[in-house]
Amino acid sequence: MASAKTLRKLFVLFLSALMVLSLAACAGNTESAPSDSDNSAPSSEQSSSEGSEAAGDNASEETEGGTSSDNKILVAYFSHTGENYNVGVIEKGNTHIIADMIAEETGADLFEIATVNPYPDTYDECRDVAKQEQNDNARPEIIGPPANLDQYDTIFIGYPIWCGDLPMAVYTFLESYDFSGKTVIPFNTHEGSGQANTKSSIEGACPGATVLDGLAIRGSVAQNEQDEAKADVIEWLDELRYTN
Ligand SMILES: Cc1cc2nc3c(=O)[nH]c(=O)nc-3n(C[C@H](O)[C@H](O)[C@H](O)COP(=O)(O)O)c2cc1C
Repeated sequence: MASAKTLRKLFVLFLSALMVLSLAACAGNTESAPSDSDNSAPSSEQSSSEGSEAAGDNASEETEGGTSSDNKILVAYFSHTGENYNVGVIEKGNTHIIADMIAEETGADLFEIATVNPYPDTYDECRDVAKQEQNDNARPEIIGPPANLDQYDTIFIGYPIWCGDLPMAVYTFLESYDFSGKTVIPFNTHEGSGQANTKSSIEGACPGATVLDGLAIRGSVAQNEQDEAKADVIEWLDELRYTN
């Protein structure tokens, strides 16, 4: 008879398979819609340390930046509440939780990227809308305008991975401003895709900006293991030299 340990392992495997199948449902019918399989999903360990280590490569350039008084920082983020993947119904989005941590540590201003038409609360409906927007290469209208972006030298940009890419509303935000000469620092939450190819997507949408390597955190860790998430955030910001 199988031991309790073996049964537990089998159960975890079963849950993981369910997760992959459900996220794979994001894959659209057109070639333009990225799917999880387009962005082979790194593990959470890979993605977090990838963010931290890679960020270190750029750290020397940021020595003068960080939180000095002449470097104004904005944390702009998109985040979804309601029924979310792997965490049930949530009142504060996973990315929002990380955005607050970054703002607290850096003294940055916060801006929420919210759409004029809210996304459905239920996961399946939200995924269908997200998938359709990707297929259409849509730019959903966002509520704005954000604070005068010109005053910020550094913009942290936060988002969940949606169907292997940025939510389309984040493209709306990025394409609404001239980020040239600014430092853009991505961070994201996910349930298996890590950062996917979102650094390249952001570079494409922000010509002339310096886009640093970002930090990826599991949404379930952001939501349910906030001490662990905060430690990752602080370590990453330290390497970037962006802590107060
Ligand atoms: C519409 C939708 C699509 C998603 N697609 C992916 C995906 O392709 N890869 C992945 O790792 N996670 C995916 N997720 C999970 C989210 O990235 C994850 O739950 C994230 O932490 C949500 O953050 P938020 O609460 O800030 O919106 C998806 C979630 C939703 C709602």
